[in-house]
Amino acid sequence: MSIRLNVPETGDEEIDAVRTVIQSGYLTQGARAAEFEALVKAVVGTQHAAAVSSATTGLHLALVALGVGPGDEVVVPGFSFPATANVVVQLGAVPIFVDIDLDTFNLDPGLLDAAITARTKAVMPVHAFGLCADMDPINEIAARHGLPVVEDAACALAGTYHGRQAGSLATAGVFSFHPRKIITTGEGGMVMTDDDHLAERMAILRAHGAVRGELYMEFVDAGYNYRLSDVHAAIGVAQMAKLPRIVADRRARAGELTRRIDGIDGVRPPVVPEHIDPTFQSYVVLLDDEIDRDGVIRSMREHDIETTLGTYGMHLQPAFRDRFGIPAEALPATTRAHRQALTLPLHARLGPDDLDTIAVALTASVAANRGGSR
Ligand SMILES: Cc1ncc(COP(=O)(O)O)c(C=O)c1O
Repeated sequence: MSIRLNVPETGDEEIDAVRTVIQSGYLTQGARAAEFEALVKAVVGTQHAAAVSSATTGLHLALVALGVGPGDEVVVPGFSFPATANVVVQLGAVPIFVDIDLDTFNLDPGLLDAAITARTKAVMPVHAFGLCADMDPINEIAARHGLPVVEDAACALAGTYHGRQAGSLATAGVFSFHPRKIITTGEGGMVMTDDDHLAERMAILRAHGAVRGELYMEFVDAGYNYRLSDVHAAIGVAQMAKLPRIVADRRARAGELTRRIDGIDGVRPPVVPEHIDPTFQSYVVLLDDEIDRDGVIRSMREHDIETTLGTYGMHLQPAFRDRFGIPAEALPATTRAHRQALTLPLHARLGPDDLDTIAVALTASVAANRGGSR
């Protein structure tokens, strides 16, 4: 595909950093992971950071450390990458899917209170595509029920909400460093928190449940191996030097793309509330109902342009639909976003001509798929 959805900004700096780690002979979690944690903490402003092998293991680790277990409920938005709910199911708990606000694709705080029961153990909003969920009302409602809040900030490193950093907005926040995220380590993640006790629990559980003694370790819990290796962390350290430019580039290009596609009939560009500065990890538009979104994806492919759905209506996936049996109509906005949201390419290698090409191809693809298969 000549225009790809995303291209990670990796180069010689990352190669040199990895070479140094490999030559050092110390490859597992160590000094580079600590350096990476310090760099992310300096941006996000939390007291603690735990580098982990992915956002998925980070979300799992945070929920375990918060004591989520069998029979508990965790409230999540319906619209997310399924890892958000997988970790809840893996703990024997039940994800309670709440519908979204279609403007921001984020959990609708107006529906949160009614989703909380005596079994609720945590609330886990997602910052969809790097645009922060409406955290003030979410935190306020959760606090009223005495519940911790975990930000699924997988896409939101350096995104802000009322000027505050994503990942610092709740009890804990979790970033992803998958190659489609803001910065990458290949695979990787990080859990941020200001809570000393939670940080200590996560540090122990991240590394086999072990506590280091004078001569050897003692195992105080049946923990996991969720560490990020120094090989991966070294890539993260190199990436952090590029973070300000990467985020500024994404925001600028998103603005340029919006200028080009604004006004295409049936296509709603991303909506950005004025108190939120998103990362544009993905640039996601919403198509009118009479446009066949999957047809548009196919047509764009014929133009040699990679596009995809926004993300998933999790209640429509067999993993959750068959287990929990939630009808599509129960989450109307999520169902609509699942069917009609479209991710367009956005990355630093797209020049003005590429952005023009995307806009022209989108205009044609939408026109060709109006009144489509549905
Ligand atoms: C919202 C959200 N949460 C969690 C994840 C999982 O991240 P990882 O691939 O680092 O496990 C993703 C990845 O796409 C995501 O978009």
